[in-house]
Amino acid sequence: MTMKRADWIFVVGVIVVILFFIALSKYGRRTPPPMPANPEHRAAETRMDCLQCHDPRQSEAVRPISARHPQAWMDERFSCTVCHQQTR
Ligand code: HEC
Ligand code: HEC
Repeated sequence: MTMKRADWIFVVGVIVVILFFIALSKYGRRTPPPMPANPEHRAAETRMDCLQCHDPRQSEAVRPISARHPQAWMDERFSCTVCHQQTR
């Protein structure tokens, strides 16, 4: 049995879709890391506390939030601890 041109296009299409899902599952995973269990993180309570060290808009921040961080952190109605658990 010989494969027609349309069959090859179909096979290539299926492979592309499968690779796409593999890539998604590798790079699209976004589990918020817990806060490190150190005194700084035990002491920090409010969003403002967190942003003193993590605000990327402030040059003094020791550990600015990265550009790939979910944009939800900018929303003042969310506290950081909704996503980042304290591991006391
Ligand atoms: C005094 C500065 C400071 C404060 C305040 C602070 N952090 Fe951090 N944070 C750091 C530093 C420095 C690191 C990276 C070093 C480490 O992993 O121990 C870090 C790491 C983290 C990490 C882990 C990142 C990773 O890759 O695992 C998370 C999550 C985090 N902070 C969230 C918070 C939240 C939420 C708050 C507020 C409740 C907060 N931090 C308050 C300095 C601070
Ligand atoms: C909607 C959930 C959510 C909220 C709200 C949130 N984060 Fe995150 N955070 C995440 C996720 C998910 C990651 C992992 C991102 C990745 O690795 O791509 C992360 C990663 C981090 C990291 C380490 C890696 C990085 O991307 O910089 C720090 C530090 C951090 N968050 C701090 C904060 C602080 C401070 C706040 C509050 C101002 C906050 N986060 C609010 C979900 C959240």
